Amino acid sequence: MNVYDSARMTDVLRPLGYAPTDAVEEADMVILNTCHIRERAAEKVFSELGRLRKIGEERKAAGFGKTVIAVAGCVAQAEGEEILARAPYVDIVLGPQTYHRLPEMVARAARAGQAVIDTDFPVETKFDFLPDTAAPQTAGNLTAFLTVQEGCDKFCSFCVVPYTRGAETSRPVASVMAEARRMVDSGVREITLLGQNVNAYHGDDGRGTAATLASLAAELAQIPGLDRIRYTTSHPRDVDTSLIDAHRDNAALMPFLHLPVQSGSDKILKAMNRGHTAGEYREIVRRLREARPDLALSSDFIVGHPGETDADFEATMQLVRDIGFAQAFSFKYSPRPGTPAAGQPFQIDEAVKDARLQALQALLREQQDAFNADMVGRTLPVLFTGVGRKPGQLAGRSPYLQPVHVEGPESLIGQTVPALITQRFTNSLGGALTRERACA
Ligand code: 5AD
Ligand code: SF4
Repeated sequence: MNVYDSARMTDVLRPLGYAPTDAVEEADMVILNTCHIRERAAEKVFSELGRLRKIGEERKAAGFGKTVIAVAGCVAQAEGEEILARAPYVDIVLGPQTYHRLPEMVARAARAGQAVIDTDFPVETKFDFLPDTAAPQTAGNLTAFLTVQEGCDKFCSFCVVPYTRGAETSRPVASVMAEARRMVDSGVREITLLGQNVNAYHGDDGRGTAATLASLAAELAQIPGLDRIRYTTSHPRDVDTSLIDAHRDNAALMPFLHLPVQSGSDKILKAMNRGHTAGEYREIVRRLREARPDLALSSDFIVGHPGETDADFEATMQLVRDIGFAQAFSFKYSPRPGTPAAGQPFQIDEAVKDARLQALQALLREQQDAFNADMVGRTLPVLFTGVGRKPGQLAGRSPYLQPVHVEGPESLIGQTVPALITQRFTNSLGGALTRERACA
């Protein structure tokens, strides 16, 4: 979501004459777009700010103008005042709901010569104010992110999102469709719908009722030229029958689903306030696989939540063994200020968390390797997105987001074409085009 947000910030700043640069030394303004989900991410902001301050001073000494430093995103939202106290040279602090006000803030910071802070949850929605021109960030890109839902009302014990991103809201269908059409017009062939709880989507459908993620995906699938639709991140509680059916009926929906479970222990799931049991998760997965037999899953796991015993952790390992994941993200529990779990007794030792994380990651790695190895000998539809590193080679991705390389003509870039997978590397697949070169 931060990648998407950064692109929108680029859009609003473009009319002011700003354009992105890869070289930070050249930048008149640097915006750190930050993540608050775990402690490590938040701490990085302060070390990065120190580095930027030095770069700003060097630029000044070399005769350039002032380097404006802005902190955006969820660390800004949660720790705005602390940022200004610890790093008084920061010019702008803005939370994730106020990106549309960035031009005004830049102007104010330049005029006032003092820090501007905006971490409101404004009544107007930023999506109504962000420019709706050609979505320049995605021009030439074949894959794009599109935020359809934001915020979260679930209040999992460990998570800062409900506090930093605010309450759950959905964009109206018409607004999403308009942005999707602009993206497809500019060449995009695959859209990933984004939301902290994307399957809680309930945007206004323009007829006075609420859409569902399934109905939105069905409408998006009608856009000529849009080949692939993905969505992330979903919550098990919001997987309804319409979404399961969509995986059977909507051919544009990719058979790869990120469905965080966090733990396999009912006791810990309850302590986490997840609102589902391990059994309910297994049942959802069973129904999804029944609807779409080639569906693969990815997930998020937390080890060492307060109160997690060896037996609880073993229940997580067993759930992983039973379900089998194509990919997964796993984390040591990290106490976040202001969240219920941070104040709970029975915090787990770092050494125990380390050991559990290692064991879990070894198992997940094994499953991911097995999943990739299983691709060899199959024919997969590959969306070609560019040229590979070797001459004559094309790079693309499979339905399961695996990078795939084949030899082929550049004219296939932007097309989805079947490829026979012949090789597996650590993080990618190698293959060859099949003769028909057309996709079903
Ligand atoms: N500690 C560790 N991991 C966390 N996540 C969210 N909050 C925390 C935390 N306090 C993980 C969850 C979530 C993912 C985005 O980050 O697994 O699904
Ligand atoms: Fe955080 Fe997801 Fe739980 Fe919401 S549902 S509180 S975003 S982990």
